This record gives sequence, C-alpha cells and structure tokens, in this order.
Amino acid sequence: MFNLFGSKSKLGIDIGTASIKVVELENNNNRFALKNYGLFEMKSDKNTPAGEQSILKLPDSEIIWGIKEVLKKSKISGREVIASIPAFSTFATVIKMPYLSEDELAKAIPFEARKYVPIPLEEVVLDWSIIGVVGEGARPTVEIFLAAVPKDETARYQSIMAGAGLNLKALELENSALIRALLGNDLAPTAIVNIGGRSTSIVVVSKGYERLSHNYEVGGFEITKSISRSLNISLDKADDLKKCLGMKQADENIINEAMSTLIDMMAFETKKTISSFENSQNEKVARILLVGGMVNMPNFLNYFKQKLGQEVFAGNAFARIVYPQGLAPAIGELASTFAVAAGLAMRDI
Ligand SMILES: Nc1ncnc2c1ncn2[C@@H]1O[C@H](COP(=O)(O)OP(=O)(O)OP(=O)(O)O)[C@@H](O)[C@H]1O
Ligand SMILES: [Mg+2]
Repeated sequence: MFNLFGSKSKLGIDIGTASIKVVELENNNNRFALKNYGLFEMKSDKNTPAGEQSILKLPDSEIIWGIKEVLKKSKISGREVIASIPAFSTFATVIKMPYLSEDELAKAIPFEARKYVPIPLEEVVLDWSIIGVVGEGARPTVEIFLAAVPKDETARYQSIMAGAGLNLKALELENSALIRALLGNDLAPTAIVNIGGRSTSIVVVSKGYERLSHNYEVGGFEITKSISRSLNISLDKADDLKKCLGMKQADENIINEAMSTLIDMMAFETKKTISSFENSQNEKVARILLVGGMVNMPNFLNYFKQKLGQEVFAGNAFARIVYPQGLAPAIGELASTFAVAAGLAMRDI
C-alpha cells in the first residue's frame, strides 16, 4: 500500500518534570518497531528549590521550544502524537454499577461519576471503559474504569502540541500508558513503581486496569539536593555523584547515607500501597516492576529489593518493540526512562 499521507508513525510524548521524552514507533509487519527516540533534559537551576523544578511549570512557549528542539535534534519526522497527563493532575478510579446495557451505562455513568470525581463534571473531560462483569446470580455488577482530566489541562496540552506543529491524537493518563507498555495482556495483579525527578508514583494494576495509585512527592531531585546539602557541593556535582556512585556498596561511597533515608521512604510507601490494595481487595500482588530514571542508578534495584524484602524487577517497556541491534547495550536504560513515552506511542498502532 502507498502511504499517501506521509509516515504512519506515532509519537509518544511524555513531558516529565525532569525531561521531555519522545518515542516514535511504527508498525512493522504487525509488530511495534522503534523508529526513533529523543530526550530533552532540563538543566538544574540553582535558584529554584529542587522540589519545585518542573518543565510543566515553565511557560508554554518554553515547553514548545523544548519539544521542537528534541524533534529536531533526534530527526523525528512523525507528526501524530499521543501525550500523557501526569498522575497528579488526573483522577482515576474503578466503580461498580448494576449490570445494564452499554447504552444505559453510557447514560448512567456521568450521574454516578459525580459521587467520585472531586471537581464539577462541567470542568472535566470524563472517560470510562468497561472492565467486565463481576458476580453472578440475580444481581451481576459491572466494573468500570473511570478517568477524569480537567478541561483546562486538556486545552493546555492541545495548545502546546499545536504550537510545536504536532497533531495531538489523544491524551492519556500516564499510568494507562505504563500499563500498556509493561503489561500488555497480562492480567495478574502487578505493582508499578515509577521513580522520576519530582515524585515516586505507585500504581497497583489488576486485570489490566489501575486499581489503586499513590503519588509520593519525593524523587531524584530531592535525592540530588540531599547529596548536595550533606557534602556541601553544587547540585550539578551532586547529580554526577548520584549517577556514577549510586547505591554501590563500598566504603568510599560517600553519598550512600545522604540518599538511603529517602530511598527507604520510597520503599516504605510502596509497601504501604501494596498492603492497602491486598487488604481491601483480598488479592495478592504477584510482582513489582520499577521504572523511571532513578532505576538506572547503580545498585538501586538491588537496594530497593532488600528494603522491600521482596523480589522486584526493572520494567521492560521495550519487551514487545523491535529495535536496531546496535541499541541493545543501551536498551535497559532506555526502557526505564522511556516507559511512559513507549506506552503512549503503542496506543494506536
Ligand atoms: N543513571 C542514573 N542514575 C541515577 N539517577 C538517574 C540516572 N538517570 C536518571 N536519573 C535521575 O532520574 C530522575 C529523572 O527520571 P525521569 O526521567 O523518570 O523523570 P521525569 O519523568 O522527568 O519526572 P517525573 O516522572 O517525576 O515527572 C532525575 O532525578 C535523574 O537525575
Ligand atoms: Mg515521569
């Protein structure tokens, strides 16, 4: 078939707090194929407190510039985009309703949603999917995944993407993108822990849908700040040490102590979220997957595993993506940093 309308590739764009990540995928004989990827990192600004540094807090014009820059540098040619909305500005839950026809459900859900969505429904874009029927007998119920995004957020993303000359096909919750990238059709209860610059986001997934999520406002920035404070060195220097020494167990590891309390807290929050899911749902979490830039820190996975007292794995967002052989050595690091972007780009392929 001729491709009259240019490339059929899709871009997944994840505007994180530390960097903008883009993954370009295309369909290659019904498999996902990596066409390109790119990253734009925000420089740490000494005048802004670490906890407040965020690309999303920049004016739209600067974000547009950043997106254009990464597309240009990485020679990304696709124009159709799926972008993610961070977990902290969205709302998602699973509700149960009596078994009705799909038409009737569509009418009833907005009324039901009022009980759960904390902002007026006029101000959000509401979305839902039917997970399935639970229970039998005279009164079966339907489980529904309900998501809401504030309209001013959706408008902002539309205007940013348009400003960058891109065609925004869909906006998706960050966690939904992670679920697609990491779990595919796997239905087993899984906890995904995404440790980024600003926060640690923990989501428990069962039957392919987010069941419980928790956002803990500590991430890589806070860790850099702690190193910088305890050794009295610049943020840049601290960041370098974090990346080269990480949690390596050695006497000469001078940053271990400055980081461990914060990482212990991340593990504690993960444990708490998992227990809370297991106690309320009477279901065991079968495995724990870690993604986000912090996973690339030396010995991080191992340390986290010890703290949790449970096996953890690095989530591999590229497991179902074909990529050039030359990328193989770097793919582990790419797969954790680009997990959200990869899941987004997989959406409509
Ligand atoms: N090799 C590495 N070793 C240690 N830390 C790393 C490494 N690579 C990246 N990081 C850290 O990971 C963090 C960025 O992770 P990521 O790209 O997942 O964040 P983000 O998506 O921009 O932020 P968020 O998801 O919180 O909005 C930064 O703090 C960065 O210093
Ligand atoms: Mg992120």
